[in-house]
Amino acid sequence: MSDNRKLWGGRFNLSTDKLVDDFNASISFDKRLYSYDIRGSIAHAKMLAKQGIITTMESDQIVIGLDQILSEIETGKFIFSEADEDIHMAVEKRLIEIIGDTGGKLHTARSRNDQVALDIRLYIRDQVESIKSLIIGFLEVLVKRAEKDIDVISPGFTHLQAGQPILFSHYFLAYFQMLKRDYTRFTDLAIRLNYSPLGAGALAGTSFDIDRHFVAKELDFYGVTENSIDSVSDRDFALELLSTISITMMHLSRFSEEIILFSTSEFNYITLSDDFCTGSSIMPQKKNPDVAELIRGKTARVYGNMITLFTLMKALPLAYNKDMQEDKEPIFDSVDTVTMSLKIFASMIDKMELNAEKLKIAAAKGYSTATDIADYLVRKGLPFRQAHYIVGKVVAYAVEEGIELSQISLPIFQSYSNLIEVDIYDSITLEASVSSRQSYGGTAKSQVLKQIELAKSFINENS
Ligand code: ARG
Repeated sequence: MSDNRKLWGGRFNLSTDKLVDDFNASISFDKRLYSYDIRGSIAHAKMLAKQGIITTMESDQIVIGLDQILSEIETGKFIFSEADEDIHMAVEKRLIEIIGDTGGKLHTARSRNDQVALDIRLYIRDQVESIKSLIIGFLEVLVKRAEKDIDVISPGFTHLQAGQPILFSHYFLAYFQMLKRDYTRFTDLAIRLNYSPLGAGALAGTSFDIDRHFVAKELDFYGVTENSIDSVSDRDFALELLSTISITMMHLSRFSEEIILFSTSEFNYITLSDDFCTGSSIMPQKKNPDVAELIRGKTARVYGNMITLFTLMKALPLAYNKDMQEDKEPIFDSVDTVTMSLKIFASMIDKMELNAEKLKIAAAKGYSTATDIADYLVRKGLPFRQAHYIVGKVVAYAVEEGIELSQISLPIFQSYSNLIEVDIYDSITLEASVSSRQSYGGTAKSQVLKQIELAKSFINENS
């Protein structure tokens, strides 16, 4: 027996080519699954004993051995070797080293195919919980900012041109809604994935009298998956995870794009905290919004990971294929990326400053209260379409003269419509414009305060 003998080596006359070993091995990355692998194996060993497939003494020995392996890994004493192929083999081989032949009984009524399907579900289930709590942390920051900045008026954009004035808080709360939906998507996918595939064996189930429901209960699953072929070939839950992470990153990326724009000297709406920016090696005046740029950039790799997994799965015949080993790196990478991004983004938003004066000046530019003049005329009885046309003419006049709407004299206003009276000037202030938008979900302070209350209840119900 050579040192290189595999746990599955019985059928083979030659040991694996070194190149094949290296190519085949996933241990370098799937070792991250060690705690889930061990937890699953402990539940499996207990079930085997409960069913009389192994003795209680054997199961106890296996559990003690597995606990020792867990602590060896956690204290850095465990030696990972490429020759062990993957985390499942590495743990089993070490178990046999520690407790002898009894260790070889652990894999009874199990395959690495259902084992890896179990491990990855347990891993994702945990990660989803931690991503969800990071989202809650971020939502808290957004609500805090919305409360703090409740009186800051900002331009609201369409086509990246000033459209109508809004409260900056209203803008923060738009991101609250996006991240709230992300939160619920993570919740949904965690519900669907929470069924144990263990016991599906290689693909067809097992001839042993196992109790899959017991294992599922031990591992806090809602229940068991229903079809053994599907159990080992399904990665829908991972696709849902990577899609959901992609949507979350898309939200952070849009936010980042605005942070980048708004912090330029050209906009100067916000000032990022120094500790969230970096300098240039050549241009001493630079303060670069690297964090926001990196989040925007990292969104690309997260989309890439999602596409990788979809492409991986698209033509795979049932049931397990080794291709599926390629699912792990994209999953790990996207989880790591969204985790880091959420943490850092929340702090950046928490610490950034709004340049309220600058925002107000910008909000007043670009004839942003033109809609308010049209609404004014409608209230005086004019059909909206006619009002729109008249105000278009008024704006054209102001553009021609190079003045703001508020600088147009009453006689000029009246030359466009005799419905206009001196109270027009009250309707076209920024404050009047904002506070007039009292429709549900609108930007009036009263509405924004309502949104803040709802946002707080969502956070309370979910943390
Ligand atoms: N390392 C493998 C994976 O991640 C584990 C399952 C291997 N199964 C097999 N029949 N070779 O997919």
